[in-house]
Amino acid sequence: MESNAAVGIIGSGAMGSGIAQVAAEAGHEVLVYDNNDAALRRSDETLRGLFAGLVAKGKRTDAEAQAVLGRIQYVGSLLSLDRCGLVVEAIVEDLSVKRSLFEELSHAVRGDCILATNTSSLSVTAIAASAKNPGRVIGLHFFNPAPLMALVEVVPAAQTADGLATECTALMQAWGKTPVRARDTPGFIVNRVARPYYSESLRILDEGLATSAEIDAAMEGLGFRMGPFYLMDFIGHDVNFRVTESMFDAFWGEPRYRPSFTQQAWLNAGYLGRKVGRGCYRFDESRQPIRAAVAQTDEALERISDRILAVLINEAYDALHYGVASRADIDLAMRLGVNYPKGLLEWGELIGRETIVGRLDELFDRYHEGRYRVSPGLRD
Ligand code: NAI
Repeated sequence: MESNAAVGIIGSGAMGSGIAQVAAEAGHEVLVYDNNDAALRRSDETLRGLFAGLVAKGKRTDAEAQAVLGRIQYVGSLLSLDRCGLVVEAIVEDLSVKRSLFEELSHAVRGDCILATNTSSLSVTAIAASAKNPGRVIGLHFFNPAPLMALVEVVPAAQTADGLATECTALMQAWGKTPVRARDTPGFIVNRVARPYYSESLRILDEGLATSAEIDAAMEGLGFRMGPFYLMDFIGHDVNFRVTESMFDAFWGEPRYRPSFTQQAWLNAGYLGRKVGRGCYRFDESRQPIRAAVAQTDEALERISDRILAVLINEAYDALHYGVASRADIDLAMRLGVNYPKGLLEWGELIGRETIVGRLDELFDRYHEGRYRVSPGLRD
């Protein structure tokens, strides 16, 4: 697409508004469409408030803020996107709704317009199949909040035309982002490789081997910014549980991705996390989790973090083995997408793959469950 092409955004919620901001800051004229007028107005107010804050803090001049805001227009019809070179879809995460949108959209835009989906968990290929010209469809998976998170997973569908992923990678770099290339497989890189951070922690909790506060302390001790339970409370158990459920379904019941009854119970009880003041933890008035004291020794905490880390590293090697992404992109994605202190493949090499294999074989001997089978990518 031409470097000065207009960019369309569909869905003006958290992600759509953030991506609109990124594209406008990169100099594009941006046209935002949502089928809910109130959502469009909220997006406009949010962006105006945000730029007023940036000006007040001296991070943008008033002229810069006005110029960016002046490039964003809110439109009432998909037909208004007919001059866009790229349209990014960020509507509700529902395959049938996305498919009917792509069908309609592909008739409303120019034939050479790039149609990108920001889906986190759906098949880009299945979305592309509904478009008039599936070769122009691709996944551009931004992270939340889009203006602050550098990572973008670029996900070509089975039908995506040769060269389009390279073109989108260059465009994301021009927008100041760090793109990585991922195969169109469930969870792409980050949502797949990060699964054990939650699932293995819940498993250890369910077995009564440690409390949530102890598991969090163990992982924070390894350099993770937020322990798994604090992080799940922060993300929201509704969101986190649904991603796990959709991974489990998408992998036709692969035991590694099986959701946890404990997390389901929190969800059923309405303990959604920090946003409602209660999740795995209760939250105080300043919205900080009230964490019980850690009773276990440092050695015991290390055994817990060794176990979770081994399962995570195994997942990263499995993604590498199945060609989800390159070694460099898997490590970069985990550092930028979920702030891991080190790339998991690099970490595996530093600890020694034999050590990790030893920890997993021990778990497999104990439980005889597929979730602890060593990936061929790690063992070889
Ligand atoms: P959101 O719920 O904040 O916003 C979705 C917007 O889409 C709403 O304003 C809604 O009115 C609009 N919408 C729904 N159906 C529509 C249609 N048929 N046509 C036009 N507009 C429609 O959702 P959010 O969080 O912004 O997520 C959007 C997409 O981005 C989803 O696919 C989600 O999986 C993905 N995503 C979300 C992330 C997150 O952390 N929230 C991170 C990365 C991707």
